[in-house]
Amino acid sequence: MEGKRVRDSSVTIAQVMDPQDANPAGNVHGGVIMKLIDTAAAVVASRHSRSHTVTASIDRLDFHHPVHVGDLLFFYASLNLVGRTSMEVGARVEAESIITGTVALT
Ligand SMILES: CC(C)(COP(=O)(O)OP(=O)(O)OC[C@H]1O[C@@H](n2cnc3c(N)ncnc32)[C@H](O)[C@@H]1OP(=O)(O)O)[C@@H](O)C(=O)NCCC(=O)NCCS
Repeated sequence: MEGKRVRDSSVTIAQVMDPQDANPAGNVHGGVIMKLIDTAAAVVASRHSRSHTVTASIDRLDFHHPVHVGDLLFFYASLNLVGRTSMEVGARVEAESIITGTVALT
């Protein structure tokens, strides 16, 4: 089997947060961010394995800063390790204020 580099399957997804992504407090709903993390991770796993994949579990998910409507979110995902039939994918989310350019680790 030919080896593959981590960067061969790494992805970055960028998406602006819209009003329909907000919770009743006006910030972005965590579930919206979780779905996009899952999407980015699934793309990495499927690109690496060139097959359909499912999410078995999420080890840990921490929200460090709230995300605001209008922020541009970047989802960086790449392979951490490969098992026999499974893969572990890491994801990092950053929020950029399009107006100020400030970037925060989400
Ligand atoms: C994940 C799933 C395929 C595991 O099935 P299983 O019969 O237990 O599979 P196995 O015991 O043969 O394990 C297969 C691999 O998955 C890994 N694995 C299984 N459950 C895991 C878990 N909860 N967390 C991390 N890895 C897990 C095993 O370690 C093994 O890895 P390896 O082949 O690299 O050594 C099965 O539980 C499933 O289909 N779950 C539903 C997934 C899904 O639909 N996700 C979308 C959410 S709705």
